[in-house]
Amino acid sequence: MPEANLTVLDHPLVEANLARLRDKRTGPGDFRDAMAAIASLLTTEATRHIATKPVEIDTPVSPATVQKLPGPVIAVPILRAGQGLLEGVLRIVPDVRVGHIGMARDETTLKPTIYMQKLPPLELAARPVLLLDPMLATGGSAIGAARLLREAGATDIKLLCAVASPVGLRNMSAADPGMEVYAAAVDERLDERGFILPGLGDAGDRLYGTD
Ligand code: PRP
Repeated sequence: MPEANLTVLDHPLVEANLARLRDKRTGPGDFRDAMAAIASLLTTEATRHIATKPVEIDTPVSPATVQKLPGPVIAVPILRAGQGLLEGVLRIVPDVRVGHIGMARDETTLKPTIYMQKLPPLELAARPVLLLDPMLATGGSAIGAARLLREAGATDIKLLCAVASPVGLRNMSAADPGMEVYAAAVDERLDERGFILPGLGDAGDRLYGTD
């Protein structure tokens, strides 16, 4: 992936929360909390480009000019694990709209299939879209979701992930050269089961205690 399209967040709070995610002793409650914190930090960077608009309001003591978002940001978690990142987006983005894309990766072929989709009825072309998936392994799930969003008209899409693999980044860049990726870390490689190494295990299972 060309460097211009990848931002790896260099921040002590990202590192400290990533440490919680990687540790196999971290239970679902703490895992969800750390994932949400990382999502908020990634979201801060991935929304920096949005131009605010001035609005006149009254504070309890005086009129004031404040800055607001020009329209709703759309967050699209890839189910299930993307829900873990959504929590941190909802905490800091006012009036966010949420679309859902359900994708499951076949454990043998590693190919993803879409099992549900529900996008907000907004003009996608005009809105910033945050695509949420904690793991970019082969990239198949995020590439499939990005294709679906492009077909629906989205032009400004940023992919937020906790951990990305080099091959996943390469595949994403080849499939969707306009995609910008924000990650907390780029790990070494994939194992034979398609798990990221050293990674953090199966994010969906660890978020929801289903392993
Ligand atoms: C995992 C993970 C990503 C995907 C990454 O999801 O949460 O969505 O695999 O792999 P890829 O880059 O090779 O496509 P999984 O299919 O296990 O579903 P889950 O989120 O419901 O656990």
